Amino acid sequence: MSRKLFVTTALPYANAPFHIGHMMEYIQADIWVRFQRMGGAEVNFVCADDAHGAPIMIAAEAAGQTPQEFVAGIAGGRQQYLDGFSISFDNWHSTDSQENTELAQSIYTALKDAGFIDVRSVEQFFDPVKSMFLPDRYIKGTCPRCGTPDQYGDSCENCGAVYAPTDLKDPYSALSGATPELRSSEHFFFRLSDPRCVEFLQSWTQDGKLQPEVANKVREWFVTDPDGSGGLTDWDISRDAPYFGIEIPGAPGKYFYVWLDAPIGYLASLVNLFGKQGRDVQAFLADPEVEQIHFIGKDIIYFHTLFWPAMLHFSGRKIPNNVFVHGFLTVSEEKMSKSRGTGIKPLRYLELGLNPDWLRYYLAAKLNAHVEDVDFTAEDFVTRVNADLVGKYVNIASRVSGFLAKRFDGRLSAELGADGEALIAALQARVPVVAELYETREFGKAVREIMALADQVNGYIESHKPWELAKVDGAEAQLHAACSTGIEAFRILSVLLTPIMPRTAAAVADFLQVAPFTWGDANTRLGEHSIGRYQHLMARVETEVVEQLFEAPPIAIEPEPVPEPGGEPVAEEISIEQFAAVDLRVARIVSAETVDGSTKLLRLVLDVGEPQPRTVFSGIAAIYSPSDLVGRMTVMVANLAPRKMRFGTSEGMVLAAAHADTATEPGIFLLEADSGATAGMRVR
Ligand code: MSP
Ligand code: ZN
Repeated sequence: MSRKLFVTTALPYANAPFHIGHMMEYIQADIWVRFQRMGGAEVNFVCADDAHGAPIMIAAEAAGQTPQEFVAGIAGGRQQYLDGFSISFDNWHSTDSQENTELAQSIYTALKDAGFIDVRSVEQFFDPVKSMFLPDRYIKGTCPRCGTPDQYGDSCENCGAVYAPTDLKDPYSALSGATPELRSSEHFFFRLSDPRCVEFLQSWTQDGKLQPEVANKVREWFVTDPDGSGGLTDWDISRDAPYFGIEIPGAPGKYFYVWLDAPIGYLASLVNLFGKQGRDVQAFLADPEVEQIHFIGKDIIYFHTLFWPAMLHFSGRKIPNNVFVHGFLTVSEEKMSKSRGTGIKPLRYLELGLNPDWLRYYLAAKLNAHVEDVDFTAEDFVTRVNADLVGKYVNIASRVSGFLAKRFDGRLSAELGADGEALIAALQARVPVVAELYETREFGKAVREIMALADQVNGYIESHKPWELAKVDGAEAQLHAACSTGIEAFRILSVLLTPIMPRTAAAVADFLQVAPFTWGDANTRLGEHSIGRYQHLMARVETEVVEQLFEAPPIAIEPEPVPEPGGEPVAEEISIEQFAAVDLRVARIVSAETVDGSTKLLRLVLDVGEPQPRTVFSGIAAIYSPSDLVGRMTVMVANLAPRKMRFGTSEGMVLAAAHADTATEPGIFLLEADSGATAGMRVR
């Protein structure tokens, strides 16, 4: 029985074009989905724009558009990214749709009827300058859980906590900067704390389906502190007008909070797809064989492992079979922000003519089934593509196909010889291993496995040396066997790489004159078969082109002369050891007196905690009179070599600050230790 799958990626906010992090999520899911399709599964792979919410409403207003116009503008730009990177969604829809409105209202009504909705009057932040209740995202403050400043009002980007804006410490309005006022308003709550909910979610999240690190994280959210706080708390699902969203049935002026209708958008997109196909979506969702899988990033685990399964379950609907969580993509170790995106732009990648399969391959090579971040670096990318794809994989075809065309009219031999048979058997023995790695999203391991097989094939070619066989009279059959083996092997590797590199695989199938690959093709042989003319399948990637991916650095401008601190440049760098070589001590000025014959110097007697006080001559007479100094705690260099002067020996040096140019910036300022310091303490 082949699998039936309903697969989604998170619905991107319709406030900006895709960034490279979105593409990573789509590529990860697309690889998995293509693998499933190749194995004969029925896959419904859908996504949609997450259109609602205050930020989009506010952005639209700023752009002088209605929210619908604004969202349509963003949505209109989506396809070129999806096509460009071969993301094979079966449908793309929007949460601002008829299907979603109906679904959200019906799910809500079912939850209400089952006793999961509470209405409570809540104190909410109101911006006195803007005269509106402040959307969560427009209230910032310090995370109540981990203390990270400048966090949004709904959740913490640092620790993942989800809370009410009123829980924030030191809140401020991000719209006006004003300190918001608390005003009262009726809100609707989903009762996540209901014991039925807690019990259901305990089992749904802890039954072993989730990735272990995800299950562990979720487990923390159930924990109630000894003071009764913590644990699953009820979720505020309503917002007051003005709001861009779906109206709550029977509650004029109240809208669903965007995160309520966002995941429902998964269903809306599926309903929309089935509508176009004239299929019965209810029957599909009622089929217990259907597996519902959501690919998401690590920042939205709470919504997908708690709210979403609970909403579905208690409204009597199919619950997700799993949630596959990935880490974040960083570019050259720089964190990408939700709103700002980062470093490399997906469209720029395509405009530069870089092969989309390269990015897919590169990301696949770095992805695994864990919630780990993935870093993109130019050097790494170039190495991966050139060493693996060109150097190992494509190389196989280019080494043998010329002889097949010239000497055998493009016909393969079914007689591979003992070595050839052994090689093909060795490759095919690993097909189930690669399949399992795809199934479990261990794409990096799959890539390594496939490249190890490519190494074996190259080893075979090196030991059979078709280029030498071609010169030997009577070695025709051996040459034919070696080249045919190379192509048979190349085809198997191509089948294995198809989920990752669909374009390349299509070009290979074309070259080999075979139908698009299915997974089963990895276990078969071409035998006697005519192949097409070898076309150049893939060139090496040029470092210079990859470097153009990174947004142009800000144009270099003639640097303004930087004023030097204190009128002089900072001295050459020293090590901590070099600094430690200078022994600085707190010194109490026991006495101070002028020096006969000097207008600059004062003779200071310093107590540095030693049996004998030290005598130090200091050039501060122009600024300080002796009576100013007696009793003060200052700092001296205690291990400076004694210096013989006309007036006596100076046994150290006291520290004072001065501008480099005392003529224009006069003054000498003796350093002073804070009260409590005692003579002889080391300064470090
Ligand atoms: N609209 C919500 C999701 C609603 S799902 C019912 C949202 N949108 S988003 O545009 O901010 O993010 C969409 C997806 O992209 C999320 O899964 C998120 O984790 C993922 N990523 C955002 N930045 C990312 C990276 N830098 N790297 C990888 N994935 C990233 O959240
Ligand atoms: Zn936090």
